[in-house]
Amino acid sequence: MQTQALQEIAAAPDGEALQAVKTRYVGKSGLVTKELGTLGKLPPEERKARGAEINAVRAALETALNEREAVLKQAALDAKLASEAIDVTLPGLPLPAGGLHPINRVYDDLTAIYERMGYAVIEGPEVEDEHHNFEALNVPWYHPARDLQDTFWLDDGRLLRTHTSPMQIRYMVAHEPALKVVVRGKVYRYEATDATHEAMFHQLEGLVVGDGISMTDLKGTIAEMARGLYGPTAKVRFQPSYYPFVEPGADFAVWWDNPRGESKWLELGGCGMIHPNVFKAVDDLREAEGRERVYEGKTGFAFGLGPERIAMLKYGIPDIRYFYANDPKVIGQFRGEL
Ligand code: PHE
Repeated sequence: MQTQALQEIAAAPDGEALQAVKTRYVGKSGLVTKELGTLGKLPPEERKARGAEINAVRAALETALNEREAVLKQAALDAKLASEAIDVTLPGLPLPAGGLHPINRVYDDLTAIYERMGYAVIEGPEVEDEHHNFEALNVPWYHPARDLQDTFWLDDGRLLRTHTSPMQIRYMVAHEPALKVVVRGKVYRYEATDATHEAMFHQLEGLVVGDGISMTDLKGTIAEMARGLYGPTAKVRFQPSYYPFVEPGADFAVWWDNPRGESKWLELGGCGMIHPNVFKAVDDLREAEGRERVYEGKTGFAFGLGPERIAMLKYGIPDIRYFYANDPKVIGQFRGEL
């Protein structure tokens, strides 16, 4: 019986077959187990020897069963590993890649320049109230910027911010001087659209406040930005202009050296020295919140510019409306470039 059993164990092709052999010989009603049951019928003097014999067979079968089981398990594992093997030398499958929007690329260029100069970079709410968007910025009720033509008003009396300058107010109310910060974000104007005007566009706002900040610091800062954008020989130009929240105020332009010719002054935005009325409005808001008045007597400058103009020239985009039309022929050109 032992020889027969050992042959069957060695021949079992898999775990299931081996289990069947095991049941047949050493299971509860297996052949070996039954054999042990016959011991009682033997004369007592034969029992001991016969018992030892059967137990030896049982032990030999169990050892063989365990060994065969280990071999079969290893073989199953090897087969599984072989079938699941990954060929790492196969070429990869290309995934369609997106890309950064040209406005975000220009923003990233600009904020990198300001971060090098130690500015914080923040954003702020697009839905504003009249006080932060106009009143606190010294924009009187009769100023044309408040005209219904220019502002998207909401039913609840709030509005879509027409510029990022209200963040000057919010930042100063929450922080004490000295400070340097740039704000990036969307702004809205209720205007007819054309190749250079959109109802929604973007601004980068800068604000610096401290002691003894002067117009020279402002001009140096804009010049540093121009060099960051267009290289060490970049030129800047300032022309007097009027914004209610600065005095004096100016518009600034950067000389754009176009490799294809047609170089020109690029009118980028407005700037100026913070108007004392703005500092006073900030201190009033701070006082109303139980904070100290810390801005009166300080000096500072602010500037605001539109990344769309920079992006249009940089990427040769002829119409501002292309930025937001989501035309795949346009945005597809910015794929994969991060
Ligand atoms: N907020 C102004 C605008 O939208 C730009 C500006 C910002 C001007 C800061 C001066 C100082 O036109």
